[in-house]
Amino acid sequence: MDSKAQELELLQKIDRSKIPAHVAIIMDGNGRWARERGLPRSAGHKQGVETVREIVRYSNYLGIKVLTLFAFSTENWKRPPWEVNYLMSLPEQYLHSELPELVKNNVRVNFIGDRKRLPQQVCAAIDKGLQETRNNSGMVLNFALNYGARAEIVQAARLLAEDVRQGVIGTDITEEQFSAYLYTGRLQLPDPDLLIRTSGEYRLSNFLLWQLAYSELWFTRTYWPDFNRLHLLQAIYDFQQRERRFGKS
Ligand code: FPP
Repeated sequence: MDSKAQELELLQKIDRSKIPAHVAIIMDGNGRWARERGLPRSAGHKQGVETVREIVRYSNYLGIKVLTLFAFSTENWKRPPWEVNYLMSLPEQYLHSELPELVKNNVRVNFIGDRKRLPQQVCAAIDKGLQETRNNSGMVLNFALNYGARAEIVQAARLLAEDVRQGVIGTDITEEQFSAYLYTGRLQLPDPDLLIRTSGEYRLSNFLLWQLAYSELWFTRTYWPDFNRLHLLQAIYDFQQRERRFGKS
């Protein structure tokens, strides 16, 4: 069966009323994809952006409510300067070409991460995306850039401590109250139902550590530049076969 036929078959098997509301993706394997083709790493990232285009469109079509993409981690600064610069040019490149379509398709652009170290042109591109899509009510496309979960949790603790100090909040803090201080809480995003990681790595790599507590995890050996609609459907189908108990018996 060719991949188009497989896609249609899976699409029929999937329960469209039980699409995971929030899908988060660790997009990994761009470098290895390029190396296996004798190409520079940048070619892998470039192809990775094409995958982002395709997966954003298809996620929206499927009715996913929030799609969070891990585009740059706080650890990625350790890469060579040329690669950091290249990765930093991608949000701008992507938004420049896709923003009109995102606006038209009612997608709302969002951002989580620490702005402080991000170059001005990246912040400007994100702000333009936020601004132009702020009235959209459809899928939230959430880019994690210069994001690290431990830093997010520490930052939340600092903000909370400050509010305690000022008497805004008492010390008997609940999980819900704490969540509200995380980037995702401040944006009122639900926790991910499904986490996908590509390229055969089985780690969370400091991504959404708090929010993934009860998420279903789905891993594939496929490198991100080769990830396609069929893989996303497979992940959703597998997700729907699992029984989510949230600790209950
Ligand atoms: C991991 O692959 C990937 C990244 C560090 C960057 C991911 C970014 C994209 C896929 C493009 C982002 C697109 C937009 C629109 C912001 P790797 O380079 O670590 O691959 P490797 O582990 O095989 O070396």
